[in-house]
Amino acid sequence: MAYDGTSSEGTTADREQLDFRERLATMFRESPLPPEQLMFNLGLYTRSSLLVKFLFLHDVYQRIRMVPGVLIELGVWWGQNLVLLENLRAIHEPFNKQRVILGFDTFSGYRTFSDEDVVGDVMADGTYSTPAGYREYLERLLEVHEGANAFGHRRGGHRLIEGDACETVPRYFDEHPETLVAMAFFDVGTYKPTMAALEAMKSALVPGSVLVFDQLTWPGAPGEAIAFKQVFRDIDYTIEKSALYPSKSIVTLR
Ligand SMILES: C[S@@+](CC[C@H](N)C(=O)[O-])C[C@H]1O[C@@H](n2cnc3c(N)ncnc32)[C@H](O)[C@@H]1O
Repeated sequence: MAYDGTSSEGTTADREQLDFRERLATMFRESPLPPEQLMFNLGLYTRSSLLVKFLFLHDVYQRIRMVPGVLIELGVWWGQNLVLLENLRAIHEPFNKQRVILGFDTFSGYRTFSDEDVVGDVMADGTYSTPAGYREYLERLLEVHEGANAFGHRRGGHRLIEGDACETVPRYFDEHPETLVAMAFFDVGTYKPTMAALEAMKSALVPGSVLVFDQLTWPGAPGEAIAFKQVFRDIDYTIEKSALYPSKSIVTLR
């Protein structure tokens, strides 16, 4: 499977599809729309593989709307999901300023492999790294979205926590023992950070909490499933494959 930089599983597209994607990228780069019109007409260039991510997150948000607690993404990369979550929060619960959104990432790509992981093209030291200063850029971007949304004068609903999740997630839960988790999106894929995060947030889960796993059934990232099976051995939950996005699994605490 080739890695085209768009997803954690690479691409199964054939040459012709890749050519069409390249043509779309060229048409986007050469768009005749003025920038302010382009921002409001991005659907012109949104492929189904991106649209489904929006629809999927919307499905997840609807499930946790009545569940108290924070929203977490473990493995942020460029942070699109965090921006979507902020905007879904603004749509579904504009006055809920206690819905804190947390993103954990090294911002310098993959780190901390173990025997449970498959290191390859997609997952290797430093893949998915972002340019220097990207966390600060994403912080400003989230603040701008929050400020532009309803009730925007009350800001401060996001935290980006930089570093190896093996250390940062347990530390966060130690320092914030009051935290409940409404939703956590696991998208690191490797064993140790997934395990550390699951262990750290286990006691913060409540009935209705939703955990999304990006790669639970992908043989390229067995560490995620291994960690899940170990931690969830004694937890009562339901699990389903997303109807919209078959590679994603949705776990709901009973
Ligand atoms: C597949 S990408 C996440 C994609 C993102 N969730 C999305 O949907 O666009 C995986 C991310 O995990 C991060 N990562 C890998 N190992 C990590 C670790 N030990 N601690 C924190 N972040 C890590 C990488 O930097 C990368 O941004």
